[in-house]
Amino acid sequence: MPGRVLQLAEFEERLSYLVDLKRLVGRIHVDLAPRGFGKTSLLRQYQRRATERDVLTIWVTAGEELGLIGQIVAAIRTATAGWGAKNRARLVGLLDSLALSVGVPGFAKLDATFDRKPGVAQPVGVREFEQVIRTTAGQGDSAGLVLFIDEIQAADAAGLRTLAYAWQHLQAEGTDVPAAVFAAGLPDAPEKISAVVTFAERIAFRPLERLSADAEEIAIGVPAQLLGVSWQTDALVSAVEVAGGYPYTLQLIADASWSAAGRPDSGGEITVDDVREGQQAMRGDLDALFRARWSNATPLERDLMTAMAEFGDAPVGRAELAQRLGVTIASFSVPRARLIDKGFIQASARGMLEFTIPGFASFVRERQE
Ligand SMILES: Nc1ncnc2c1ncn2[C@@H]1O[C@H](COP(=O)(O)OP(=O)(O)O)[C@@H](O)[C@H]1O
Ligand SMILES: [Mg+2]
Repeated sequence: MPGRVLQLAEFEERLSYLVDLKRLVGRIHVDLAPRGFGKTSLLRQYQRRATERDVLTIWVTAGEELGLIGQIVAAIRTATAGWGAKNRARLVGLLDSLALSVGVPGFAKLDATFDRKPGVAQPVGVREFEQVIRTTAGQGDSAGLVLFIDEIQAADAAGLRTLAYAWQHLQAEGTDVPAAVFAAGLPDAPEKISAVVTFAERIAFRPLERLSADAEEIAIGVPAQLLGVSWQTDALVSAVEVAGGYPYTLQLIADASWSAAGRPDSGGEITVDDVREGQQAMRGDLDALFRARWSNATPLERDLMTAMAEFGDAPVGRAELAQRLGVTIASFSVPRARLIDKGFIQASARGMLEFTIPGFASFVRERQE
């Protein structure tokens, strides 16, 4: 995982807290980035490291019919299938009552979003969810439990609420449950989560950066080296320039250059000409992606992207965009939010907007000609 040293160090630290001290990692951790930035890869790397330390890992990709809690219930059921009969029977009982209280399909749905008991205003299923976490983390042969939630921005509001409140409770009680939640999501995840949870500031949101040039060189140079193939220096530099710090593009250009070089055997080399040829081939792949994005956009969204494209791939201020479009900033807040949702553009520092994939601006400009 080149370029993700800080993230991995933070994960290792939390993991040690969980495994060595047997403590709850009290803050839900969410890595944020647009599509293609390496969120899923990073989360999978966390998962491998947790598994190496004998932690039970549960993985869900949010956004499915079952709802977040339903997905977690199903995943825990599967992951604990090998438990001894007695522990397992108790856990299954808890999973069933959790599924029942949040209304997972296949279980009766209770008619409440919040518990109606006097003095308790919390989403349904919070106590049941806590029980499930305690039981799953504290039994079996594992050293603890880590829940991984990919695409958290797509999770249902009720599920997010139950998860967040349960975690808040576990933390407030100060009990020693060796468990953690690591999630990944699009840059608008904090907004979505804040809309349904009042204490979203308790969640550790961590924006992922683009890869540095050094990290990019390592990402493409080292795997080649392991096969005895070397990238000429100018080839490496030019591939890195094409990628612009964006992991998805980096994989495309590296793969295309490799093919252009005839998939070299040990002793082979990748030259700047291979990269140039690879870039041509890669254009086709990227164009397909760009076309799909474009056809997925509404007329208003296209207008906004067209205005952005006039400023190139660099971040552009909202005021400049408003001026360009001849409208107020507020008037394009809806297409702006939709495009961020879709992962086509992202909000960078100080309210600036930029495209998430380098090259999109010139694609849009070429369409206008
Ligand atoms: N640190 C990294 N260095 C190089 N390539 C990476 C890195 N992280 C991810 N990638 C590559 O970038 C692409 C997108 O990664 P992915 O994890 O699917 O992104 P996301 O989940 O953010 O959409 C994949 O081809 C992946 O192999
Ligand atoms: Mg992903």
